[in-house]
Amino acid sequence: MIYTPESFILFSMEKQSLDTLWFKDAVFYELHVRTFKDSTEDGMGDFPGLISKLDYLARLGIDCIWLLPFFPSPLRDDGYDVSDFYNVHPDLGTLEDFKMFIKEAHKRGLRVIADMVFNHVSVEHNWFQEARQGPSNPKYNWFVWSQSSKKYSNARIIFSDIETSNWAWDPEVKAYYWHRFYNHQPDLNYENPEVREEMKKVVRFWLDLGLDGFRCDAVPYLFEKEGTKCENLPETHGFFKEVRAMMEQGYRDRILLAEANQWPTDTIEYFGDGDEFHMVFNFPLMPRIFMSLARANRQAIVDIIQQISNIPKNCQWATFLRNHDELTLEMVTTEEREFILTEYAKHQKMRINLGIRRRLAPLLDNDRLTMELLTALLLSLPGSPTIYYGDELGMGDNTYLGDRNGVRTPMQWSPDANAGFSEAVDPEYLYMPPVVNPSYHYESINVRTQEKMPYSFLNWNKKTIAIRKKSQAFGRGGFRVLGSENEKILAFLREYKDERVLCIFNLSRQPTFFHLDLSEFANLIPVEMANDTRFPRIKAERPYFFTLTGHRFMWFKIVEPHLAPPKSFE
Ligand code: GLC
Repeated sequence: MIYTPESFILFSMEKQSLDTLWFKDAVFYELHVRTFKDSTEDGMGDFPGLISKLDYLARLGIDCIWLLPFFPSPLRDDGYDVSDFYNVHPDLGTLEDFKMFIKEAHKRGLRVIADMVFNHVSVEHNWFQEARQGPSNPKYNWFVWSQSSKKYSNARIIFSDIETSNWAWDPEVKAYYWHRFYNHQPDLNYENPEVREEMKKVVRFWLDLGLDGFRCDAVPYLFEKEGTKCENLPETHGFFKEVRAMMEQGYRDRILLAEANQWPTDTIEYFGDGDEFHMVFNFPLMPRIFMSLARANRQAIVDIIQQISNIPKNCQWATFLRNHDELTLEMVTTEEREFILTEYAKHQKMRINLGIRRRLAPLLDNDRLTMELLTALLLSLPGSPTIYYGDELGMGDNTYLGDRNGVRTPMQWSPDANAGFSEAVDPEYLYMPPVVNPSYHYESINVRTQEKMPYSFLNWNKKTIAIRKKSQAFGRGGFRVLGSENEKILAFLREYKDERVLCIFNLSRQPTFFHLDLSEFANLIPVEMANDTRFPRIKAERPYFFTLTGHRFMWFKIVEPHLAPPKSFE
């Protein structure tokens, strides 16, 4: 099938009505409504602005948008501190705007999932305000209170740069309340059936408005139990299984995607037996991609994928390189963490909690070849890839903005004032300044400029996403590593039905050569996918020889000779 934008839209719409496994072939794109496009000149992005950029996203070739929290909130944790689950933050528009956005996205064959913050609310949420009236208030038991701050002392502190305890003293109630994140984010009490029912109601509310699913925030922390780390408890799995069962009842093509930043064996549990989350972010893989690159050695990637490849058939990993948070290093060994920090975050300003607050391009020293290499890995390793807005342009960051805000600056649309993000006359109105560091300045790193340049990073991304879409092997296929003595090389096969794709990556900066035993494909032809270039026939009697220059990769489909294009020279 040849992918024109029209056929792509038709193809996606057709899938939308038929396919409950659509998420396995999808490319996800994470964005914040506030950071994307301002339509009202108030310096903040909004739903109408986002609608005006949907054609851009369709052109890029993504399939599903993941919206960061857009609910009313005092914004002390960028919206993860929700004060009303049933509405839209007034800065971003209205519920009507939201509905229009869903309609317009669906019209273009794009699906939409949204963050849902199950674990906690803002102190400003009415539920907590009522709870503060004391034990006689019915909402009191919606939160976790204690007279002692020593309870659940085995639970770690996640925002370790800021918080010193998971308990905060409430002077009105004269008790401590439990919070796994900022102290202004009290945890909901999931022991209370009313809380569980209410949050299921919230889920139904948004699904009924047409949302295609949820990126479920901070899932491991819903329940607490003395003597445990208060993470990944069976009751927490039980709750999400109930949500899933509810979705199986009337929302069968919607998905649940888990943010569970845990050790591999605990992370994989969130798939259940195919009856819990449809997708789980591949936190185990992400830091190991950066480690393999810095070591110029495939082993870290190969080991982890082998550990976590056995997941239920109706499930899928969500792979990513970067997101709106720090590049988290919580779930690697101390030595590995030190190694990655030394390689990728030389200055203290680049670090936060146990991670690195930088975008993809700056992490890779703005080296185009390495950016292509890692993006191609993202697009071809098992799982559905998630692109963080702006990384398709190679946007920079600003480590001088507080918290994780340095990676949340306005999307860079054009060389015009405010990066084309907003027409606010006074740039200081902008919720955050656009990037003006000369290496990443919006005057050159922006959509309009890059769309015009055929070989820009943006156009490279578009092309490579389109290649991925030509073969379902990327989304659905098996994964087999091909051994080679040369450990700088990562070579693997993705196979699905009668499709075979061979991917080879040189993780080192130097040119290198290697042999692969492809004898099982004797007499077939490798066809390099980016240029449709025919390579020499595979022979049974000798290994296949490749060379790759530093940080390059190639993808090949392996086909019968009559299906290969003609030889390009003779
Ligand atoms: C998740 C979010 C992060 C937020 C935290 C607390 O980890 O990704 O941005 O601060 O939850 O809600």
